[in-house]
Order: sequence, then structure tokens, then C-alpha cells
Amino acid sequence: MAAIEQQVAQQPSDIFFAEHVRKAFKAPDGTELLILDDVSLRLQEHEILVLLGRSGSGKSTLLRMLAGLSEPTAGTLLHRGRPIEGPVPGLAMVFQSFALFPWLTVLQNVELGLEALKVPPAERRQRALAAIDLIGLDGFESAYPRELSGGMRQRVGFARALVIDPDVLLMDEPFSALDVLTAETMRTDLLDLWAERKIPTQGILLVSHNIEEAVLLADRILILGSNPGRVRAEIPVRLAQPRDRESQEFRDLVEHIYGIMTSRPAAAPNVAQRGALGIGHRLPAVPVNQLAGLLEELYSLEQGSGNARIGLPDLAEDMHFSVDDLFPLIEAVELLGFAQVADGDIELTAAGRLFVDADVQERKRLFARHLIARVPLAARVRAVLDERHNHRAPGTRFRAELEDLLSEEEAERVLDTAIDWGRYAEVYAYDDNADVFSLDNPGEDEAEGVVE
Ligand SMILES: Nc1ncnc2c1ncn2[C@@H]1O[C@H](COP(=O)(O)OP(=O)(O)OP(=O)(O)O)[C@@H](O)[C@H]1O
Ligand SMILES: [Mg+2]
Repeated sequence: MAAIEQQVAQQPSDIFFAEHVRKAFKAPDGTELLILDDVSLRLQEHEILVLLGRSGSGKSTLLRMLAGLSEPTAGTLLHRGRPIEGPVPGLAMVFQSFALFPWLTVLQNVELGLEALKVPPAERRQRALAAIDLIGLDGFESAYPRELSGGMRQRVGFARALVIDPDVLLMDEPFSALDVLTAETMRTDLLDLWAERKIPTQGILLVSHNIEEAVLLADRILILGSNPGRVRAEIPVRLAQPRDRESQEFRDLVEHIYGIMTSRPAAAPNVAQRGALGIGHRLPAVPVNQLAGLLEELYSLEQGSGNARIGLPDLAEDMHFSVDDLFPLIEAVELLGFAQVADGDIELTAAGRLFVDADVQERKRLFARHLIARVPLAARVRAVLDERHNHRAPGTRFRAELEDLLSEEEAERVLDTAIDWGRYAEVYAYDDNADVFSLDNPGEDEAEGVVE
């Protein structure tokens, strides 16, 4: 699915209005890394907007720009009708985890939120106590952060954000570092504060990569695609609060969003097309054993149900995986041609079934063929080694090439994955200490060929 044609018209009551926002960073070699391209959005009054996207899609980057902490490369950003030119007044942020000061008590940590606003000490104290009470930390005012559980510490972070009586709250995965039960309690508490207007906040923008969390909280969901980040879909959530995860409408919506998030933008290269991807393709960092585990699981689910198509939410549940953990795995098996995804279902390909059935050596040979045919970086490494008379090449040679296309960090990650996959398939060897690629047994498998 291509990025949607966004018709985003500004309304006078909008808290935020963003139009055609683009953000690019400079790579160390001076080339441009495009992170967000042509993003438009509105945050309306009395609305919880959830921005859903996979890791690296640029969600935090977008939040920072809205908060006035970083500038867009191009495009318009307005807060209450005015261009954003610095920190946005009346705005509070909640992060995945907070840097609380260990030498300050809960009360002192919360008061800090008001110091910058030059609120007099007596009022500071009184407002901090009220925020602590509101967020359920009553009785812990004089505790130190180390005495608190992770959930309680996160509550201190929330209190620090709420103490300023924010007009708007920006939250960047505030529940994702918490255990399941604590996260659920805190979501419910936040919804209560919001629905019962115990906080003066007029709008909430929440970043998440958890589909169920989005459907639970949002009035509207924007799905952000990756590479570069773009709004791929806008989904109003019309279910009444409180929402029931087990209800059919809830499950249908989760499934629908799963489908959108796993479909590929039509404009982007299709992995099914051989050679359509360049060597800079961000290979998902999935170890071979996990990849094989997924294929085996698909096979057994298929045998068990008699149905080759497995729903992705069912698969996630079955493997006790979160959505975010499952995505890279799915991307990897699809990239290698062992499974394919359509409309929120996944299905083994013929090659995927062969792989599951094969013994260790056959698996390696099959994997090698698919790796060379479908992963240009692996094919490139192999070709370079084949050409060189000593069949050796330093890792830096490929790293330099990748760094023209990716950030240094990403280049390293992509090369690591190519190393893991290539080693397993015995397409090449790699010596960690020397940082050298080589051919194990040059020439030996030439007769066998590497193309299907
Ligand atoms: N200052 C920077 N310089 C260069 N690249 C950056 C910078 N900040 C972010 N990036 C890159 O921008 C991309 C998006 O990053 P961002 O943190 O916004 O993603 P995200 O959607 O919040 O991901 P996550 O779900 O992992 O938090 C990443 O590829 C990241 O490496
Ligand atoms: Mg982030």
C-alpha cells in the first residue's frame, strides 16, 4: 500500500498541525539519511492520537520536532496556529523511562518539573503533592527512587509531567518498559484521569509499537511506514471506552491493523522480485536459529489446523511474541522466500516447507541458494571473495560501502546479520578477530552452483 493521499486541513482548534514534514540527518560521510518524508498530521482538541510504527520508523524524531526540540528539514509545524520555533509551552513529555535523580526524594523529583517554570517554593510543594496523589504515589513522597519498583518509578515520571498541568502530553512508549500487568494498570489509570478530566490536558499524542495498546487507547491511529517514515494509514477508533480486548470488534480492528503493518508499500521494492533490493537493504537482525524456529512453528500450525494460512495475531500469541518481536522475523523469512504474508496472514512457501523437511546439510544448501539469490549484500560478499585470488577480503571493505547508504550503526548491524546468515549457509567464513571474510573451501561448491 502506498502512502495515503493525506488531506490534512488545519482547524483553528488544532493543538498541533504538521504538513509535508521532512527530516533528514547527515551521515558521517556527508550523505543524507532521509528519516521522515512528507508527514502530515493534526492533533485535535480532546483527542488521543496514537502514532504506530515499527522500530526506526522515526516516531521519536517526529515527537521531538513537535515538542520543539529539533527542527524539521522541510515542512510546516504549528502549535495552536503558531510556528514551532522552540520548546512548546504547556507541553509535557513522558518517556519509556525517566532519569530520576537518585539523591532526590519522590517529592523533590516531582517538584523539579516546576522549578524551570519559576513557581514559588510553597506552591511547588503543594502542586507536587497533588500530582503525587493523583498518580497513586501517596505515601511515597519521601522515598528515594532506588526504593521503588519500575512501575512506581514510571509513576514518578508521570507525576513530573502532570505537575505542570500540561495542555498537551507527548508520550513516547511510556508503558513498554513495564511488565504486562503494571503496564495495563497504568494505561487504565491514565484513561481514567483523562476521561474524568482530572487533568487539564486537552490532547494526547502517544507513540507506540504495540497494536493492542493503540486500539485500547486511541481515538485515532496513524500508522507510520518505514524507510523513510510516512503516514501509511489513518484509522479512527470508534469503540466505546472502556474497551474489551476480547470483543470481536476489538480483535477485528487489531487484525486489520496487523494487515496494514505487514503489507508492503506498492512504491517500495517488492522482496519477491529478485535483485530488486540493493546491498543497503536493512536486513532484519534475526539469528538463523530463530528463523528456523519460526518456519518449524508455521509448519506445525499448518499441520495442526489443516490450513496453510496462519493469522499473524494467532502466531504471535502462539509463540508468546510481542508484535514488535515478530515483525523482524517475518520480514526475514519473507525476504529469504521461505514464507509470504498477505492480508495479515502468513503462509509457508514451497521452499519453506522443503526447509522444514530437510536435514542439516540440505537446509544449509537451500539457505545458501536463497541467500545468494535474494540478499544482494551476501551475493556481493561472495562475488568479491570469488574474484580475489586469495579469496579473502577485510570487513572494512563492505562496511565502507554500506556506510554510503546507511548510518554507521545500521551498517554494522546489517553486516552482522549478513555474517550470521552467510556463515550458517557456508557461503563464506568470517574471522571476528581479524575482521576478515574468506571462503572456507574455495572452488569446492562451484560444481553445485549457487543459483536455482
Ligand atoms: N541524530 C541522529 N542522527 C542520525 N540518525 C538519527 C538521529 N536520530 C535518529 N536517527 C535515525 O533515525 C531513524 C529513526 O529514529 P527514531 O528514534 O525516530 O525511530 P523510532 O521510530 O522512535 O524507533 P524506536 O521504535 O526504536 O524507538 C533511525 O534509523 C535512527 O538511527
Ligand atoms: Mg523511539
